[in-house]
Amino acid sequence: MPQMTGDKPHITEAEWDEAEAHEIITRCAALKGGLMEALHGLQHAFGYIPAESYAPLADAFNLSKAEVYGVKSFYHDFRSEPAGHHVIQICQAEACQARGSRTLTAHAQKMLGIELGETTHDGHFTLQAIYCLGNCAVSPNITLDGKAYGRMSADRFDILIKKAAS
Ligand code: FES
Repeated sequence: MPQMTGDKPHITEAEWDEAEAHEIITRCAALKGGLMEALHGLQHAFGYIPAESYAPLADAFNLSKAEVYGVKSFYHDFRSEPAGHHVIQICQAEACQARGSRTLTAHAQKMLGIELGETTHDGHFTLQAIYCLGNCAVSPNITLDGKAYGRMSADRFDILIKKAAS
């Protein structure tokens, strides 16, 4: 079982860098669909979308900060905070749901003590939803640090997580 202490999350992502964020946003501002490009660029650079980036994004794309936040929040791939050492994604799309991904998700949330979209207090694990990995034949599917695992059960999930935590 991973250790779930009240310690501050371990930050593995890059620190906020205003100049770098400005460069990314400026580069994307002239592009069609530039806001999405900028959000992807920021997440690639920092590991998440820092709150400090909302104002410059709003300025560059002639939007309010609330509108920028709304776009960011609509897409599950964009994180609001740094991810943990290990990122777990559980497929929530139809084929995986038909084969128990909701039950698996509930198990994962209980085991880790977090909801989808959250990171454990010790910074070990981030749990996220994903919508179809294209592996529907072997559902339910998850990924752990980008590697896909099919036919996932609660028992196999526990083994994987304990191994990753050790
Ligand atoms: S629905 Fe989960 S992999 Fe396709």
